[in-house]
Amino acid sequence: MRILFVGDVYGKLGRTMIKEYLQKLKACYKPTFTIVNGENAAHGKGITEKIYREMMDSGADMITMGNHTWDNRDIFEFIDNVNRIVRPANFPEGTPGVGMQYLKINQLEMAVINLQGRTFLPALDDPFRTADHLIEEARKRTPMIFVDIHAETTSEKMALAWYLDGRVSAVVGTHTHVQTADERILPKGTAYLTDVGMTGPYDGIIGVEREAVIKKFLTNLPVRFESEKGRGQLSSVIIDIDEQTGKATHIQRRLINDDHPFYD
Ligand SMILES: [Fe+2]
Repeated sequence: MRILFVGDVYGKLGRTMIKEYLQKLKACYKPTFTIVNGENAAHGKGITEKIYREMMDSGADMITMGNHTWDNRDIFEFIDNVNRIVRPANFPEGTPGVGMQYLKINQLEMAVINLQGRTFLPALDDPFRTADHLIEEARKRTPMIFVDIHAETTSEKMALAWYLDGRVSAVVGTHTHVQTADERILPKGTAYLTDVGMTGPYDGIIGVEREAVIKKFLTNLPVRFESEKGRGQLSSVIIDIDEQTGKATHIQRRLINDDHPFYD
């Protein structure tokens, strides 16, 4: 089975890239399941029900989130009424939504888990031990388990991947918005990539208008962050998983921008 995962969709340009390229990517790679991180989809902060439905219409099967999950209040209106969205599982008990959902096609079932790191991000519950509990639950149903770890530091993402090696099919990182080049399969069969990268403005500073970010660094005064306009990019990863064992067999990054054009 094959997974296509698209990294942090950022603002309108990110959504445009999804509309323009997701079907083409799916035609090219024929994934069993397509997962999209949508925590920056609404003007860089959160997601709305309308955007959630647009992404489903564009071909996403599941949306993962992160530290911006609650930034657009629309989420509180729909997160508990839909079953194709996961927010970080290590939010405290009683938080709306869930941190793990299942995707099913014919006899194939895969668990999708979303976790958030704690280094340079708000202090949530322990993502490592939260993962232990969820994996124990998921493995009663399927050995195929996909983890999106939304975290700031490489070390925390890498530590989680090694900690979960052999117990999940894939650990991919999101949040830092720049695709890393360290894709690999760990010795016990877990596919890993530190960060998938961002889907949105190619010429911004991690998606944000350059002028505002530079001004912030130069002056330290409050500035208003808007999405950069102009050229877009899409960041993704394709992972093959053995359906019997749940172990990854192949991982490949796929970046689409003017410097990495997509020919279909
Ligand atoms: Fe984030």
